[in-house]
Amino acid sequence: MALVTTKEMFKKAYEGGYAIGAFNVNNMEIVQAITEAAGELNSPIILQVSAGARKYANHTYLVKLVEAALIENPNIPIALHLDHGADFDICKSCIDGGFTSVMIDGSRFPFAENIEVTKKVVEYAHAHGVVVEAELGKLAGIEDDVKVSAEDSSYTQPDEVEEFVSKTGVDSLAIAIGTSHGAYKFKPGTKPQLRFDILHEIEKRIPNFPIVLHGASSVPQEYVKIINENGGKLKDAIGVPEDQLREAARSAVCKINIDSDLRLGLTAGIRQTLFADPSIFDPRDYLKVGRANVKAVVAHKIKDVLGSEGKA
Ligand code: G3H
Ligand code: 13P
Ligand code: ZN
Repeated sequence: MALVTTKEMFKKAYEGGYAIGAFNVNNMEIVQAITEAAGELNSPIILQVSAGARKYANHTYLVKLVEAALIENPNIPIALHLDHGADFDICKSCIDGGFTSVMIDGSRFPFAENIEVTKKVVEYAHAHGVVVEAELGKLAGIEDDVKVSAEDSSYTQPDEVEEFVSKTGVDSLAIAIGTSHGAYKFKPGTKPQLRFDILHEIEKRIPNFPIVLHGASSVPQEYVKIINENGGKLKDAIGVPEDQLREAARSAVCKINIDSDLRLGLTAGIRQTLFADPSIFDPRDYLKVGRANVKAVVAHKIKDVLGSEGKA
């Protein structure tokens, strides 16, 4: 099977009350871990690449790694998506370079400018058979080294979504309802609560339209503990409760973005292995443990959070 867009995936997910996992890829081990888990569970999957990932691994390497994963997992639909495209140029470069989906993130702009840049990307993408995700509202947290404080974040305003979607022609919309980027989302001891009232209001304004949640890592405490017990120094924090993500996946939310949880799993495996045996210097010895953790995280999300098992 060739790479697919998210069109069909989202239609089925919307109707079936589940969501597709969008996991960030930066190297071979991460691509392998995600697609092996999805392949074994017969789940559709979105592999997403940030500007930082393209800078680190190089566009061509990432595309070719994903193509290799397609060959290894011929029975599941895989989409290749640009995560947080900052401007038209990076979106164009990914559309021209084999991606099937791009995000134009104009959330830092005023409403009219966000519409303008999104529309421009949509016109180019659709002319090339590629779908587009945009964002309204602003998430807190860290993304590509840019930190948005909780005070500067803002929930998506339901009043704006209809006009935004109709004027831009965009295919899916990322909204801000209380999730945030990174591994330091909420203070331990607090009770994070997503704003389902805003989500449901948005659903009413744009029925049958796929919604995206960014910043959806749950920060598995067992990996934080392993990292800190093996020389790491992560601050105490908790993530988005998984039962709330499961609830979101039953609604109009068709794509759920997860990156930090994979990073924690990978790092925990590497630290644990190197600390247990300081004589190790073959990268395969520690990367395979990190890779196995990433695979376990993805399998757990597919089965217990997203509900996409068996939906390929
Ligand atoms: O939302 C951001 C993703 O976690 C990607 O992070 O820009 O550091 O690759 P990155
Ligand atoms: P997390 O940092 O919560 O994993 O979010 C990832 C994300 O939104 C990528 O776009
Ligand atoms: Zn994001």
